[in-house]
Amino acid sequence: MTDINIDALLSEGRTYPPPPEFAAGANAGPGFYDRDPDEFWTEQGRERVSWFTPFETLREWNPPYAKWYLGGTLNACYNCVDRHVEAGNGDRIAFHWEGEPVGDRRDISYADLQREVVRFASTLKQLGVRKGTAVAIYMGMVPELPVAMLACARLGAPHTVVFGGFSADSLSGRMNDMGCEVLITQDESWRRGRPVPLKQTADQALAAAPGVRSCLVVRRTGGEVSMVDGRDVWYHEASADVPDDPASCPCEVMDAEDLLFLMYTSGTTARPKGIVHTTGGYLVGVSTTHHYIFDIKPDTVYWCAADIGWITGHSYIVYGPLCNGTTSVLYEGTPDFPDRDRWWDIVARYGVTVLYTAPTAIRTHMKWGPEYAQRHDLSSLRLLGSVGEPINPEAWIWYRKYIGGDRTPVVDTWWQTETGMVLISPLPGLTTLKPGSATRPLPGIDAAVLDERGNEVPPGAGGYLVLRTPWPAMLRGIFGDPERYEQTYWSKYPGRYFVGDGARVDEDGDFWLLGRIDDVMNVSGHRISTIEVESALVDHPSVAEAAVCGRSDAQTGQAIVAYVTLKGGEEGSPTRLAELREHVAGKIGKLAMPANIVFTPELPKTRSGKIMRRLLRDVAENRSLGDTTTLADPAVVEEIRSRATAEA
Ligand code: WTA
Repeated sequence: MTDINIDALLSEGRTYPPPPEFAAGANAGPGFYDRDPDEFWTEQGRERVSWFTPFETLREWNPPYAKWYLGGTLNACYNCVDRHVEAGNGDRIAFHWEGEPVGDRRDISYADLQREVVRFASTLKQLGVRKGTAVAIYMGMVPELPVAMLACARLGAPHTVVFGGFSADSLSGRMNDMGCEVLITQDESWRRGRPVPLKQTADQALAAAPGVRSCLVVRRTGGEVSMVDGRDVWYHEASADVPDDPASCPCEVMDAEDLLFLMYTSGTTARPKGIVHTTGGYLVGVSTTHHYIFDIKPDTVYWCAADIGWITGHSYIVYGPLCNGTTSVLYEGTPDFPDRDRWWDIVARYGVTVLYTAPTAIRTHMKWGPEYAQRHDLSSLRLLGSVGEPINPEAWIWYRKYIGGDRTPVVDTWWQTETGMVLISPLPGLTTLKPGSATRPLPGIDAAVLDERGNEVPPGAGGYLVLRTPWPAMLRGIFGDPERYEQTYWSKYPGRYFVGDGARVDEDGDFWLLGRIDDVMNVSGHRISTIEVESALVDHPSVAEAAVCGRSDAQTGQAIVAYVTLKGGEEGSPTRLAELREHVAGKIGKLAMPANIVFTPELPKTRSGKIMRRLLRDVAENRSLGDTTTLADPAVVEEIRSRATAEA
């Protein structure tokens, strides 16, 4: 169990009923929870999405395999772009794009988006992309990123977007697993005023991904890159003479269950899993939840300050909001460039009404102090959202007070890469909010908290969160690995989806999420597996053995601690430490770099040779040690503890 302060959560008693004026006009009004779930999802399926052929059957459930909206055909790009233009809303802004360099900004209407997507799709076609061609995308937060995704969707080519902070190894691993034939990247991206060499990293990845025949490169910074003849193509050159009228590149007709994209995420082994999301159920799921949870209106200016490289960006920057015809902010940079008030400047300038971000970002702003927010007029905000990790009540209260002017509801939305859409969340016009609680499952979502034996625990008691019925945007599997799918999610409690999070339900039926209960860490809202980091460490020639765990961190939620035994009795040194951190960054990405590394002559193991991670967590947390009786050599832990404290 991760280490948010459960006692503090249990004693949290403040409540916030919906503001009456909000409740009066909310999209989800009285009676919302009383709807029959099947009727609700049938209705949403018809209302939120335009089908080429209407669906015949709402759902088919052969545990653990679900299908939704069977018989329906549609195209995600058509739903997110073309139909809004056809309905006369072409002038509506899809994205207020804000580049990182101050003043570098562009408003993109739905009509602009359509032209750009058509041109991009036609260019991909020239590179041989067809229905079913797998495409990888490795980019920063430029408009061409959603454009590229939508262009793939238009052609029926499944995409996998790899977050720009991932290493060449991570990128090539994903491209090889999915069988990608084309990679879309950019010369460089901006990060705090410095260029990040995406194309250069992509080149290294391509060297290890022989199946990728073409690399399409978008020019962003204008920095120097090397282009390989016959493989690499500049987007601005390849697209120069390509038509942009929609009839020149029509939307492919896709089955509701056709693959839309894979999103790789960390599990409990070293190899990331390609989470499968299909078209119909996913689109209905994300657009419906977006509409009701964020109370989207025609004049909403919505900003999800996540990166599109994660599921949050896929569902709640690209597919959900665009399907709903929403006006969004798309921001390229970090919250502190050029100054710590950059976000608040953006909120004020565009009149943002809904802001959706992660607790780690909120805690960072808390640490900087409210004065940066107070420099700007944030009165346009009417709703705030949180996602990615448990939000501690202090951060929740701070967010509402300093960003929401002590007036806005805060919706704490619980979900995962696998769920595709939010499953547990308040509805802002209906729910009495409790800081730290994601409150209730949405209609038709059957969540429960079970004990080890599979019995539901009584109110107030902690246990394992499970989902007992399928939902529209649920994962359809792990790409190429049905066994792992069944094993990971459906074997602990047969027929029920095992989430991997601990939770408890209070007397009112509200859910409190308690963090991961498996070997997955949550660092700044990013999922990283302990085993992934361990294998990156032991990949270094001087490392004999490594064990990794998360310790709680006031800002990032968790921080990564590594215990490392070096080969040949080497003691370790600051140089070695820096080298190992860099090695992990090189293997996985900077986001997986251990915050600290403790060198130790031995790791604590049971007599059967299993590393006792629980003890290492206790050491990392500076807690009194749990049961050590099964240890082969209890002295090892004391040794590690003295080294850990010496280094702290
Ligand atoms: C955690 C991100 C508590 C949880 C959308 C989950 C949360 C994992 C919340 C999924 C929340 C996400 N409260 N915990 N509101 N939202 N989590 O796949 O542990 O990157 O299992 O998806 O983040 O992370 P993922």
